[in-house]
Amino acid sequence: MKYAVLGTGMVGHTLATKLVSLGHEVRMGARSADNEKAVAWADANGAKARQGRFAEVAAWADRVIFAVNGGNIVAVAEAVGNDAVAGKTVIDVTNPLDMSGGLPPTLIPELSNTTSAGEALQAQLPDAKVVKTLNTMNHLIMVDPARVPGEHDVFLCGEDDAAKQDVVAMLAEFGWTDPVDLGPLAAARGTEGLMPFWLRMWGAVGNADFNYRIVRA
Ligand SMILES: NC(=O)c1ccc[n+]([C@@H]2O[C@H](COP(=O)([O-])OP(=O)(O)OC[C@H]3O[C@@H](n4cnc5c(N)ncnc54)[C@H](OP(=O)(O)O)[C@@H]3O)[C@@H](O)[C@H]2O)c1
Repeated sequence: MKYAVLGTGMVGHTLATKLVSLGHEVRMGARSADNEKAVAWADANGAKARQGRFAEVAAWADRVIFAVNGGNIVAVAEAVGNDAVAGKTVIDVTNPLDMSGGLPPTLIPELSNTTSAGEALQAQLPDAKVVKTLNTMNHLIMVDPARVPGEHDVFLCGEDDAAKQDVVAMLAEFGWTDPVDLGPLAAARGTEGLMPFWLRMWGAVGNADFNYRIVRA
């Protein structure tokens, strides 16, 4: 499978590196083709790893992962363009956090409560099949659920069932056995809306090696 991972931060690095280790071809996307972090990642990860501009790597890929900072998700989607991702499964792992006021960050009002970063992404890329997932945990747990002992959950939501199956398959490769499907993409309002709680829990636990577990009757 050919994956574009848009984002050069911790999440982009973790997901891109894991996907290469699983045998996929991966291109890391950035604003410029010579982005230092993307070039360094490609140089360190062998022949299946390359980098390029957002639009180029998205057009090349079968599946596209958005791992950019949430406040710029629409700008990055504009740079990608609808044609590059038409008909493709687009995986959104972002959270719409405003860091400008220091810690803890707040949710960006224009991307929360009555909407979400996931929905804004879908609106900007109407022919893509956007699935929201993995945004409710630290990046290391995303690709290694065994970091947290016992059973715990990953969520997904989106409008397209086939795209969700693509994502379930990717999650299975990461080690997730029973993802919780929350239904339509509007459920991203809920999973992104967990961030203020997650950030407080991070403070209470003292590290990021924890996750949610939904216990049912
Ligand atoms: N960190 C985690 O464990 C974690 C867990 C769950 C979800 N998330 C979410 O995953 C996403 C990525 O998180 P992160 O911690 O890896 O990195 P981040 O610092 O939130 O985002 C870094 C990426 O955003 C790009 N970016 C910054 N400003 C931009 C702009 N004006 N236009 C276009 N792109 C811009 C950066 O590009 P440059 O390289 O050009 O600076 C870089 O590729 C975020 O939405 C975050 O909330 C993070």
